[in-house]
Amino acid sequence: MRIAVVGSGYVGLVSGACLADFGHTVVCVDNDNEKIEALLQARVPIFEPGLDELVATNIREGRLHFTTDLAGAVSNAEVVFIAVGTPSRHGDGHADLTYVYAAAREIAGAIKDFTVIVDKSTVPVGTGDEVERVIRKANPVARFSVASNPEFLREGAAIADFKHPDRIVVGVEDDMAKEVLTNVYRPLNLNRVPIMFTRRRTAELVKYASNAFLAMKITFINELADLCESLDADIQDVALGLGLDNRIGPKFLHAGPGYGGSCFPKDTIALARTAQDAATPLRLVESTIAINDQRRRSMARRVIAACDGVVRDKTIGVLGLTFKPNTDDIRESPALSIIQALKDRGAKVRAYDPKGREAAAELLSSDDVYFASDPYDAAADADALVIVTEWDVFRALDLRRLREVMKSPVLVDLRNVYGYTQIEQAGFSYHCIGRPR
Ligand code: UGA
Repeated sequence: MRIAVVGSGYVGLVSGACLADFGHTVVCVDNDNEKIEALLQARVPIFEPGLDELVATNIREGRLHFTTDLAGAVSNAEVVFIAVGTPSRHGDGHADLTYVYAAAREIAGAIKDFTVIVDKSTVPVGTGDEVERVIRKANPVARFSVASNPEFLREGAAIADFKHPDRIVVGVEDDMAKEVLTNVYRPLNLNRVPIMFTRRRTAELVKYASNAFLAMKITFINELADLCESLDADIQDVALGLGLDNRIGPKFLHAGPGYGGSCFPKDTIALARTAQDAATPLRLVESTIAINDQRRRSMARRVIAACDGVVRDKTIGVLGLTFKPNTDDIRESPALSIIQALKDRGAKVRAYDPKGREAAAELLSSDDVYFASDPYDAAADADALVIVTEWDVFRALDLRRLREVMKSPVLVDLRNVYGYTQIEQAGFSYHCIGRPR
C-alpha cells in the first residue's frame, strides 16, 4: 500500500519505519527541514533501540521516503496517518490540537482519490469528528474517510511493540476505512494479533483509558510500597503475589519514584479534564495525578532523610536522568524534580545518564548540575548516591570502587535494583522502596 505519515516525531517515525518494513511504501512528512535532511541520510534524531538500522534498511530498499512536501506525499497515498504532537495546552491541561487540525487542513487540499485519514496521535474523544469537519470544509468534493488508530508503543521498546502488539484498535465509521486498515495491518498476521474495530469515538477513548489505567496501576503499587514500609511487609513480594492473579497481571507493578514521560502525565490530565467538562469526573484518575505529583516531592525527602536530614553543601550523585531506561527522553522525568528539590535545599548534584545528558543539559545549567562521565564520576566525593532510573549499566555497579570514591557510603535505590544483603555487605547504608529492613 502507499502510505503517508504526517509528523516524523517519535510515533510517526517508528510507525513509518515499521510499516515500510512490512513491505508498504511509506513517505514520512515533517515541516522541520533539518529533521528531514537528516532522515534522508538515515540519521535518526531520537534514540530508540533498533530504529537506526530499521530506517537505514528501508531507505536502502526503497520503501521508506522522507519529505517536507505534504501535498505531494498525500496526493499519492491511499492512507494518511496523522502522527503530530498533542502537547498539554498551557493553562488548562487539555490536549493542544493545533497541529492536528493544521495537518488536517493541509491534507484536505492535497487529497486526490479516495483516501483514509487516520489519527494515530493521542487525541481527545471527538477529534476524529472535528478532523472530518475540517477536511470537508476545506475540500467539499474530497472523497475520504477519517479513522482512529491509537498507538500503544512504549519508548525504548517501540519497534517490538509496533510489530508484536497485544492488540490493534481501529475506530471507523464506514466499511471502506475498515477494509483499508485491515490491509495496512495484514502483514502482522491478524490470526495472531487481535484487531478490534469499533466506532471512532470509542477508539479514541480506549487510548486514554489504557494509559490512565496503567498510571493508576503504578500509582497503586507506589502507595502500597509506602504502606509496606509502615507495616513491615515487602512490596516486591506483594507485587508478585498480586500479579500472579491473571485478572491483575504482573506488569506495571514495579514501585518506584512515580511515573513520568511524555504520555502518562499529559494523558491522565487531559482525560481528567475531558471527564470534568462532560460532568462525569474520573475521581480515580484525578487522585492518581495528585498522588504521583506528591510522590516526586516525597522522593527528594527520602534522599534528604538518608543524609541525616540535611543536604546543604553536601554532594549527591544521581544515576539516571531519563524517565525510564533505553530512551534519551527526559520529559516529566522524576529525576528532574528530585534534582531541583535537592538543589533548593542547597545540595551539589553530580548526575550521570547513558543517553539523557544532552537533553538534560538544555534544562539544567552546569552551575546547577555537574554532568558526570560515568557512575563512578557521579559518585565521586558524594555523601549519597541515588538510583533514579534503572538503566542496565547500574545493575552491577562495582560496589568496592563506589565505596572508595564516595565520601560516605549511602545508596538510595528508588528502583529496587539491589538488595540489603549485597549492599550492606559492601559497607553501605541502603535505602529502597517498600522493603523495610
Ligand atoms: C506509555 C505506555 O506504556 C504505552 O503503551 C503508550 O503507547 C505510551 O505511553 C504513549 O501513550 O505513547 P511510555 O511512556 O513510553 O509508554 O513508557 P512506560 O514504559 O509506560 O513507562 C511510563 C512511566 O511509568 C515511566 O516513568 C516508568 O518508569 C514508570 N513505570 C512503569 C513504573 O514506575 N513502574 C512500572 O511498573 C512501569
